[in-house]
Amino acid sequence: MIEKPWEGRFAEKTDRSVELFTSSIDVDKRLYAFDIDGSIAHCQMLAHVSIITHEEAEKLIEGLGAIKRETQRGKFLFDHGLEDIHMHIENRLFQEVGKVAQKLHTARSRNDQVALDSRMFLREETRNIIRLLDALNTVFVSLAEENLDVIMPGYTHLQRAQPVLLSHHLLAYYEMFSRDRARFCDALKRINVMPLGSAALAGTTYPIDRHYTAALLQFPEVSVNSIDSVSDRDFMLEFLSCASIAMVHFSRLSEEMILWSSTEFGFIGLPDAFSTGSSIMPQKKNPDVPELVRGKSGRVFGDLFALLTLMKSLPLAYNRDMQEDKPALFDAVDTLKACIEIYTAMLPKIKINKEILYQATTTGFLNATDMADYLVTKGMTFRESHSCVGKAVGYASNCKKELHELTIEEMKSFSTLIAEDIFGVLTPEQMINRRTSFGGTAGENVKAAIQAARQRLSESVCP
Ligand code: ARG
Repeated sequence: MIEKPWEGRFAEKTDRSVELFTSSIDVDKRLYAFDIDGSIAHCQMLAHVSIITHEEAEKLIEGLGAIKRETQRGKFLFDHGLEDIHMHIENRLFQEVGKVAQKLHTARSRNDQVALDSRMFLREETRNIIRLLDALNTVFVSLAEENLDVIMPGYTHLQRAQPVLLSHHLLAYYEMFSRDRARFCDALKRINVMPLGSAALAGTTYPIDRHYTAALLQFPEVSVNSIDSVSDRDFMLEFLSCASIAMVHFSRLSEEMILWSSTEFGFIGLPDAFSTGSSIMPQKKNPDVPELVRGKSGRVFGDLFALLTLMKSLPLAYNRDMQEDKPALFDAVDTLKACIEIYTAMLPKIKINKEILYQATTTGFLNATDMADYLVTKGMTFRESHSCVGKAVGYASNCKKELHELTIEEMKSFSTLIAEDIFGVLTPEQMINRRTSFGGTAGENVKAAIQAARQRLSESVCP
């Protein structure tokens, strides 16, 4: 049985079942390196303001370094009796350097300590995610560049609408993931705030220098209100919101990968190395990776909701409920990173069935809007031309023809404004290249968008 730091106050030993129930070590051991780095900075600050001597600080720091190396080698022993990573390290430090270890916890509490560790962890992981998103976006831009000649049907309501360049479609994802990147960068500003020295909730009577600790740990800001510092988990909620939005994007992308690789669409072939088979149906090649990504979006939304629900009725300041924040946070970090990585690896290997994509733009009256726009250029109002082309579509559909398959005589029967030049605007190539409005799918626009995206990626720095 390990001694508890609070034992002085208690007449009974903690029941083993309570130790097991309240322990978080299985989860928060992941924070060990941040906990140790935070403690080292705390020691340096304590010595800097003469709360402990420099010799004492040196001993403590040496011991902490040894524990870090021991943990890295997998040699650290965990025990549920020690509850969490903070108590484990303090206890181990006592074994390592003796009584001086008991000075480490001067002017701090586990409440500000866990806030510090979580922020250090999340700042590192947010930076990792930003870098991973940059790699993913580089793939989208490269694919857009390599496939500039690929024409596909664009959809609304999952009905063929108008032809677009596949590159334009791919760059839509680049935009989504760029916004995710920007959101993570912004969230990072509020993650990167140093809470240590708030102590349990009210600050401390010791003459500590919180800005000194912040500088040592490379925090640009120090938290302002000690009560808020130990009870705030907004930075996690923000991260989880950003992660959830990113997972919405991955889920939508996955849905398209699944549809497009089906026999019904046949637009793409997923790489064999990223597909799985069926244990019973020999012909099957299943899109399990996109399916799992789509499914994992639900997990990340769940993580966000777990934390929202956890926090919503908590009185200030720290409450033990908050220990439950970490499983959700860690799960979202791991899940999002895994999804970004698998897509970054899979996307370049997808086979694009250019001919099928093109063919799909030639049936389904995707040129109806262009015929209406043609009539407007000849002097008709758009509402009139819309109704006129509507009739033409009805007629063509009855004769099992497409608009561009009608004869000039048939065309003219819908409006005398129509001349031979109508056929020039009804091809997929023309439809695309005439959409030069800013942000439209014309080849020249898309080329410029690729250039701009490349430029942005080459200039992007991880904050
Ligand atoms: N394991 C705790 C957590 O993750 C650390 C803080 C404990 N504080 C306390 N007063 N019991 O939230």
